[in-house]
Amino acid sequence: MIKIFGRIMLSARLAVVARARDRKGLAPRLAGPERSAALDSLTPRFAGMPPKSGTFIYCCEILIGTRMNFCFESGRRMRIIGCWWMSVLLFACGGKKQEVVTVNVAEGKMIYESNCKTCHGGAGEGNGALKAPSLTGLGEWYMFRQVLNFRNDIRGTAATDTLGRQMAAMVKTLKDTLAVRNVAAYIASLPDASAAETLTGNWKNGENIYQSICGSCHGAEGKGNVKLDAPRLRSLPSWYLKDQFEKFRSGQRGTHPEDKFGAQMVAMVEMVKDEQSLLDVITYLRSELPAAK
Ligand code: HEC
Ligand code: HEC
Repeated sequence: MIKIFGRIMLSARLAVVARARDRKGLAPRLAGPERSAALDSLTPRFAGMPPKSGTFIYCCEILIGTRMNFCFESGRRMRIIGCWWMSVLLFACGGKKQEVVTVNVAEGKMIYESNCKTCHGGAGEGNGALKAPSLTGLGEWYMFRQVLNFRNDIRGTAATDTLGRQMAAMVKTLKDTLAVRNVAAYIASLPDASAAETLTGNWKNGENIYQSICGSCHGAEGKGNVKLDAPRLRSLPSWYLKDQFEKFRSGQRGTHPEDKFGAQMVAMVEMVKDEQSLLDVITYLRSELPAAK
């Protein structure tokens, strides 16, 4: 019994892992490898009082024979405070110190300018000649997940995926998960730099296909749905949408066993029957939406 209690004391740690910056006030959800990476990046240090307002993600890790991780969004205050007090108690009993990890946008800007700007552009507008997509408007949660996927060899590893491999090599130079968080937060703070395109597909047919297959996840207008982990598509350049769709089809993306979100897309690609249908969907996604119906 004493032994078990000792282990709890030694390993309880609570951290404010990230301040949610999403405009809608939604905290980016942490799951699977992201959650483990976030927890792994913590050096235990005592956290001080829990913040009273704002949206934060708290992670609390307790070892009782087996490792248990809890992540809470600050909407659920009661449970967070319970978790916080529990770790204070454990700290008082001799637990390790805990650390507060907060996102630093200024740091993210420095990382972006030295590591990302050459390809993705000063305003995150992308560069068609280098096949680097625009990054604005995609959401911090999605940026974070993709950069981590590249870093953790979940995306951009196939021998044939030259561009993905290029990108993966770039993010492996980032110091740690916190650097990934910071750069994702900076990109999310940039104003949307995407502009509509004029494409030759059939808009109406594209709308039909989109609404019957894609909209349930990517949102009725293609603006993404964080709750379903599906990113915004409307801001991405047409060539990139096509390339990624083809990558899901050819198995260059979404086939890693830990890529559960990519796997959802792989299951979808067969539903777009031919090249023309894909062009139609992309034409729909890249056009201005008609004024409110
Ligand atoms: C050498 C050029 C280059 C540099 C530098 C670079 N990238 Fe990329 N990035 C790319 C390319 C090319 C792709 C498209 C990969 C593909 O086709 O799968 C990409 C894709 C991405 C994606 C995926 C976007 C999506 O919608 O899925 C993210 C996120 C990203 N880059 C972030 C970054 C960040 C953050 C940095 C800096 C730390 C960075 N990139 C540096 C070339 C680059
Ligand atoms: C079951 C839900 C679901 C449906 C339906 C769905 N998607 Fe997706 N899609 C996702 C998820 C989740 C991701 C993110 C994958 C990841 O994290 O790598 C995604 C990613 C994408 C991407 C990559 C975007 C980027 O930034 O790299 C494209 C392109 C895409 N979807 C197009 C479509 C199209 C077109 C359709 C309809 C034919 C569709 N999706 C239907 C869930 C879905």
